[in-house]
Amino acid sequence: MIYLDNAATSWPKPETVYHTMDDFARTKAGNPGRASHSLAIAAENTIEETRRLVGRLINATDMARVIFTLNCTDALNLGLKGLLKPGDHVITSTLEHNSVTRPLRKLAHQGVNVERLAPSPLTGFVSPKTLESAINPRTRLVVITHASNVSGTIQPIAEYGEIARRHKLFFMVDAAQTAGKFPIDVRAASIDLLAFSGHKGLMGPSGTGVLYIGERADLDTIREGGTGTHAEDEEQPKEMPYRYECGTPNSVGLSGLGAGLKFILQTGLDSVREHARELTRNLIDRMERVAGITLYCAPKISGQAPVFAFNIKGYQPAEVGAVLDQAFDIKVRTGLHCAPSAHRTLGSYPLGSVRLSPGHFNTRDDVDQAARAITQIARAEL
Ligand SMILES: Cc1ncc(COP(=O)(O)O)c(C=O)c1O
Repeated sequence: MIYLDNAATSWPKPETVYHTMDDFARTKAGNPGRASHSLAIAAENTIEETRRLVGRLINATDMARVIFTLNCTDALNLGLKGLLKPGDHVITSTLEHNSVTRPLRKLAHQGVNVERLAPSPLTGFVSPKTLESAINPRTRLVVITHASNVSGTIQPIAEYGEIARRHKLFFMVDAAQTAGKFPIDVRAASIDLLAFSGHKGLMGPSGTGVLYIGERADLDTIREGGTGTHAEDEEQPKEMPYRYECGTPNSVGLSGLGAGLKFILQTGLDSVREHARELTRNLIDRMERVAGITLYCAPKISGQAPVFAFNIKGYQPAEVGAVLDQAFDIKVRTGLHCAPSAHRTLGSYPLGSVRLSPGHFNTRDDVDQAARAITQIARAEL
């Protein structure tokens, strides 16, 4: 079996992720922060270690500002709904995932003014100039994906961050497709809110995500409940991270996320990225030469995350995906990838496309087989 759907969730995970979760569930899985017995303390220590590892990865100043969430969607909801109020103007792009688009749509119904900027067809990203000229006195937030989950085009977040900071706006980045693969420095890129999944590039299990909340942002809560602290107070506590983390956490998952992070830090972010990028480059190079294939990718490999999409003339994306799965045992994602406006922007709406996303455990042989299978389909050699 060849798994090329790492943009949805990374698979397999490093062996240490499985072992750590098994060991944690058997020996450390008390309810953290709620008791002083050793099993509760062991769980809390594990979660705090994972928090420190996440903070280190993104260069956070204060580890308590690293908030664990269910996934990237949950983190984006907290950031957007916790910050925006009726009358605010928010700037975003047409490349966003529904995890940004839908919360913003809900907020628009409540009076938030949402402006969506299209990327330049030449570069694949929104020009910083265009972004700056969209700012008006009511603008409160710029929220943008670091890399499209369809084309994989990287957006220049440090430039956007500089503009947002200069205009005293908040800057939020959806790093679902880049965290754990590309260096993201929240301080250098002036990021106030950084949302990402734990189960994609960070190689943790599903049910894990992160919202980093920078010092300038004071978010309202979107849920309240037990935190194990200030139990006498009926108000949600103010202290971080508990203000935004209530209820029993996914401690088994967070132990696995810690193991995923250690694996990345030991392997080196650069080598994790370059391996996946080299496989991506290889696939793109070979597919570019096949007649009938349309690619949706970054104009330059240096601006490419390890995810891109394609279509084959005469086939629907779902047909290509089914043939790859059933005839070649190759797992890919087809359709609109929860990003319909990205497909509109790229010209692949309404049917979408076939998406390939190599990961750390794919080999050169995997992409050779995938390129051959796709070529065979395009040449109708089945
Ligand atoms: C760009 C982007 N944003 C957000 C998400 C949502 O991530 P999650 O599934 O962790 O909620 C995804 C998932 O594919 C994504 O690609």
